[in-house]
Amino acid sequence: MELTIAGVSLRSPLVAAAGAAGSGPEILQAVPAGTFGAVTTKSITPEPREGHPPWRVLEVRGGMLNAVGLANPGLDVFMSDVVPELEAVQDSGVTFIGSIAGHTIDDYVSMASAFDGVEAIPLVEANLSCPNTHTGRQFTDDPLAMKEVVSAIRESLPSTPLLVKLPLEMAPGFPVAMAAREAGADGLTMVNTVPAMGIDVDSRRPRLSNRAGGLSGPAIHHLAVRMIAGVRAELGKDDNTAIIGLGGVMRWQDAAELILAGASAIGMATALYVDPRLAVRVGRGLSKWVRRQGVASLSELTGAMSKDPIQPC
Ligand SMILES: Cc1cc2nc3c(=O)[nH]c(=O)nc-3n(C[C@H](O)[C@H](O)[C@H](O)COP(=O)(O)O)c2cc1C
Repeated sequence: MELTIAGVSLRSPLVAAAGAAGSGPEILQAVPAGTFGAVTTKSITPEPREGHPPWRVLEVRGGMLNAVGLANPGLDVFMSDVVPELEAVQDSGVTFIGSIAGHTIDDYVSMASAFDGVEAIPLVEANLSCPNTHTGRQFTDDPLAMKEVVSAIRESLPSTPLLVKLPLEMAPGFPVAMAAREAGADGLTMVNTVPAMGIDVDSRRPRLSNRAGGLSGPAIHHLAVRMIAGVRAELGKDDNTAIIGLGGVMRWQDAAELILAGASAIGMATALYVDPRLAVRVGRGLSKWVRRQGVASLSELTGAMSKDPIQPC
């Protein structure tokens, strides 16, 4: 079950995804040691952010709707208060992934420079699903914007491997994902939440204070399977870009599906809101599946989906 992501080894393929685990190590208190190979911090921005007022997280059929608004303690407090907490749990063998966010390319450059080479954070993940205040569009909206911001981050992050968090993309050739890879991402994390909305039919008001938000959980699982399989195929056979696959993983079968589609490791967010210990069951189930498949390691099953569809009898 051990594997390597962008040159960094993880003791387990399970990653507590950004937004599911607080800004630091608190999720580790809810599960036995060894459950998570990595924990991704809440996305951190240059300034502290309160986020949106309630309601900002809702349970809906098939998952969750959220518009948290990047609530986080900000870069200075993260470095002064949270990083020492991460250092204090280094012995447990878990890897911390620092998630960075911002609203301008300069924000990302300053975040990347601050995170570069921080020993307690051997991987950085750029969450680019944020509106660029200069253009009003998200950095992930088009390949050129993606290329520009990822190249700038890459230059400011010379000593730490970079993962880029991707939105759901279904365009032929997956141009936004490919732009991130070409601009220097060492790994890709997909998928982020899918734009969504809920309306209360009695009051006729949007259910989230921000009106629109992001959908996560089982409702988006098969979209993630499709995108990961497509991006893996687009990257090609000889490419070994790491993919952290996530989207509605609640059971080991969901995780195994993402691995066969092309994921190297598995992220979980919504499931951890239901019960963090679901990760223990997913880990156990995956490990038994690897043995049943008769391979020596989980990595051998990455992208190992057979191309032959099941024939109806
Ligand atoms: C409440 C909540 C907060 C989130 N916050 C972040 C965040 O700060 N940064 C980020 O990159 N993704 C964030 N995400 C997205 C998740 O990391 C993940 O990509 C998405 O929820 C799909 O996975 P899931 O179906 O397992 O939840 C958040 C998701 C939820 C549900």
